Amino acid sequence: MKVGVERRDAVDTHVDVVASGLFEREGSEQALPESLAREDKALDGALSAAWNRHEIKGKAKELTVFHRGGSAGRLAIVGLGPRGALTAERLRRASAEVVRALRGKAARTLSFRLPTFVAGSIDAAVAGRALVDGAVLGAYQFVKYKTSGEGNVEEVALHLGEELSREERTLKREVETEALLCENVLWTREIANLPADTATPERLAEEARALGKEFGLKVTVFDEKALAQMHCGGILAVGGGSVHPPRMITIEYPGDGRRGRTVAVVGKGITFDSGGISIKPAAEMANMKFDKSGAVAVLGILRAAALLKVATRVVGVLCCAENLPSGHAYRPGDVVRTFNGKTIEILNTDAEGRVVLSDGLGYVVQKYRPDAVIDLATLTGAEVIALGDDTAGLVSTDDALAEGLLAASAQTGEPVWRMPLTDYHRELVKSEVADVRNSTEIRVAGMLTAAAFLETFVTPVPWAHLDIAGPAYTTVTTRKFQPAYMNPGATAFGVRLLTRYLQSLGTA
Ligand code: BES
Ligand code: ZN
Ligand code: ZN
Repeated sequence: MKVGVERRDAVDTHVDVVASGLFEREGSEQALPESLAREDKALDGALSAAWNRHEIKGKAKELTVFHRGGSAGRLAIVGLGPRGALTAERLRRASAEVVRALRGKAARTLSFRLPTFVAGSIDAAVAGRALVDGAVLGAYQFVKYKTSGEGNVEEVALHLGEELSREERTLKREVETEALLCENVLWTREIANLPADTATPERLAEEARALGKEFGLKVTVFDEKALAQMHCGGILAVGGGSVHPPRMITIEYPGDGRRGRTVAVVGKGITFDSGGISIKPAAEMANMKFDKSGAVAVLGILRAAALLKVATRVVGVLCCAENLPSGHAYRPGDVVRTFNGKTIEILNTDAEGRVVLSDGLGYVVQKYRPDAVIDLATLTGAEVIALGDDTAGLVSTDDALAEGLLAASAQTGEPVWRMPLTDYHRELVKSEVADVRNSTEIRVAGMLTAAAFLETFVTPVPWAHLDIAGPAYTTVTTRKFQPAYMNPGATAFGVRLLTRYLQSLGTA
């Protein structure tokens, strides 16, 4: 999608649709807000008439499209809720509502009249960025396998008008960066949405190599032979049941080399999770093609770091395997030895994410001595039960790291909630025959016992674990309750979040 900033007032431009924001009535307020006088004039008073008879109220999600006569385009009035409650997230959603409603409605060009979306602490830059997020992310559809489709908005412009004309330079810069970030999210979604027959571990390695080539990043792919030499027994065990052999992939972004800090980002890359011998029920198994979302997010994060030239050195690790039952599959009762020598008793082959991550975490800690490790994984069903489809669970051994991630979350609108990790959880993952067990004896706090398991492979390095089982993808059912910028399929959750976090550490 083409995104730009224009000086002219949007109402005067010849585009298919001009969108303006409308706040809800507050207190004794009766007249249509002054900020919409231009729209009302262009509509010969039809807008104030609709407002006066309480047909249009400005509530969130409310969208009214007016048709002007002749060659003049449409005017879309989108509700923003009360002025005093305006947030960037409200604007993201409103903007996505507009582009979604225009899908298949012969609207190729869309202009936002920016002054109508600004209020209180939401200044032109924050509003502009949020509108771009909503429009670009909201217009996205995974159409690779569609032979026909509906037209989407293709060009979006933010119009400053008289009121905001002094902000042009700042806005151009902000909008350009935000559009780049969103394009990067769509790039990530395109890979995360690929089904498991296509997105095999080797295919993810190819994507990483291509990325490395484009941005001059060092990429290393460990195939099954290399993994055997390195004693990565975890990834090999999980990948053993599939004809598509496992891969561990590392990608290094050097940073500016001055500050010398290294952040490692490790992703769970299960290209399909059938559960293995501990097989899952058929219902919803298809969604387990999204079990690679953490690893694919790592690709997107490394790409963003390179695109935006963040100052910090970033090392990405993708732990990729397909979890299938077969005569070669690993089984409950097996004990595997991982990269750092620690052993795992397998009790449930469906708790495979932590098993592949054990090698990736152990490896990155030993090889790169990072200052912080952050992992992203669609790790547990318990996370979805605890926090829902929209929120990621955060477990961290480092308060500064956790707070940095929560601050980034507040800015990007990707919800994250911190959860505790205690000796109770650590006790639950102790094994009779190995160092740790991959599934506990009693079914409590599944998100946190999984975290306690991972912790044993990263200590003492400061670490944050993001369980993204809920927000990594939406389905036709769950998206009904989600913001309009979440489409059915992969969301690329974590890409904007971690990019923001890395940016907060400084840019080169
Ligand atoms: N990939 C699943 C977790 C998951 C569930 C992700 C639903 C997204 C939506 C993971 O590998 C898994 O199966 N975990 C088990 C662990 C259990 C066997 C200890 C779970 O959560 O049930
Ligand atoms: Zn599983
Ligand atoms: Zn899984």
